[in-house]
Amino acid sequence: MLLNELRAIVGEAHAFDGHGTSHVVDWTGRFVGSTDVVVRPGSTDEVREVLRIVRDHGRSIVPQGGNTGLVGGGVPLHGEVVLSTARMTRVGVVDGTARQVEVEAGATLEAVQLAAAAVGLRYPVDFGSRGSATIGGTIATNAGGVNVLRHGSTRVHVVGLEAVLADGSVLSTMAGLVKDNTGYDLRGLMCGSEGTLGVITRAVLALVPEHGHTETVMVGCESVDDASDVVAAVCGASDTVEAAELMSRRGVRLVSDVTGAPVPFDSEWYLLIESRSSVVGDDTLHRLVGSRALVAVADSSARRAALWRLRDEHTACLSTLGVPLKYDVTVPLRSMSAFVGAVERAVRLVDATAEVVVFGHAADGNLHVNVIGADVDRHRVFDEAVLGEVARCRGSISAEHGIGTAKREWLHLSRSADEIAAMRAIKRALDPTGILNPNALLPPSV
Ligand code: FAD
Ligand code: MLT
Ligand code: ZN
Repeated sequence: MLLNELRAIVGEAHAFDGHGTSHVVDWTGRFVGSTDVVVRPGSTDEVREVLRIVRDHGRSIVPQGGNTGLVGGGVPLHGEVVLSTARMTRVGVVDGTARQVEVEAGATLEAVQLAAAAVGLRYPVDFGSRGSATIGGTIATNAGGVNVLRHGSTRVHVVGLEAVLADGSVLSTMAGLVKDNTGYDLRGLMCGSEGTLGVITRAVLALVPEHGHTETVMVGCESVDDASDVVAAVCGASDTVEAAELMSRRGVRLVSDVTGAPVPFDSEWYLLIESRSSVVGDDTLHRLVGSRALVAVADSSARRAALWRLRDEHTACLSTLGVPLKYDVTVPLRSMSAFVGAVERAVRLVDATAEVVVFGHAADGNLHVNVIGADVDRHRVFDEAVLGEVARCRGSISAEHGIGTAKREWLHLSRSADEIAAMRAIKRALDPTGILNPNALLPPSV
């Protein structure tokens, strides 16, 4: 019987019935699945053995890290076996010369950030779920976060990767060579593959210097256009800007009401801007925005943390209003303001009682449109309204969360038929029997 065979590999305690466990519900509570098997391998070899046994039993697998994904890609929607990396959490010794660290897939983002900081370096990928999101999940979703503006998405930092393919073969480029131009970029292919091409087991991550001097300011803006102008001004004047996070009054007030976090001033829109430089006392940001009517400058790490709390807590606080319909989109910077207005109108046409809360990574054109109070079962009409506006702006239906289950039927809005056909060909080549994460990314075959 499957569970017993798996227990013989991973141990009695690490293969169990998943019914009623947190492994079957996604972070938002919108995607609820079920499974009779959750298995937690402790090594790459055990992952290989688990895949062999699951394959022999004709079952499919959903790889799962911290289960913080926001597109329903990490839960067993149709009884798939959950392969959890919860036991593979090792963070290696940081190589200060190469500025790299080797980690297991189940290590959390925060654990890697702390390991880098302990030696005066930094892993710059950062976002609110850092305490639970795993490195394997961030690679599989090519996670973005608040520092993409200067440091790029996760894939930029992956200089080594090990992954087990559906047939048990192992891709392993763990030497951490910055230049290795030998054939197809199989490592790059795994980044953003959302568990559909292989189970990521280890990685080598590139770290950056800790610049030392952080400047954090919150600016009040009258409109999204005004915010865009501020972003253009600061990013045009300084290459040390790392984050430019847009928030609305509604989102900031909600976080303040739920968490008690103080709001420095009242404004229609807010921009939280942060720069890091090695120049002690660098006050570039303050000089650039200091003359504006509404500015709060963080003059201590506590004040910085208080400003960031207003941003970091958006996702959790929005979920206190019920299950949101979440849209993580990219639109051209010059279209952001028009897009926000158009999407608010489009959602109101679908349901006048639903509320749209917009926030996001403004300098990347990456807006998070959260529709609150909608009937989640009617998601398709809301999808069409919001993602239709994205397509009209020639944007992307997924900026950083991936496609998962939530967006798979809309993939054609951002990728051509030829591209989707090429992705299907790659999927067939690497997972010919389709056992890896069948609910995620590629649209169901017609
Ligand atoms: P899971 O949710 O467990 O899985 C996500 C996907 O990756 C699934 O398809 C799963 O099958 C696959 N997967 C997981 N582990 C592996 C593996 N080892 N091998 C192969 N496939 C695997 N995301 C952003 O990009 N930017 C943000 O700013 C951001 N902010 C967030 C804030 C909050 C409060 C929350 C709750 C989420 C946020 N996220 C953000 C979303 C989420 O944290 C990321 O998508 C993260 O990368 C998921 O990591 P995870 O380990 O939780 O993956
Ligand atoms: C964020 O930037 O906070 C995340 O991407 C999460 C979200 O969209 O809720
Ligand atoms: Zn985000």
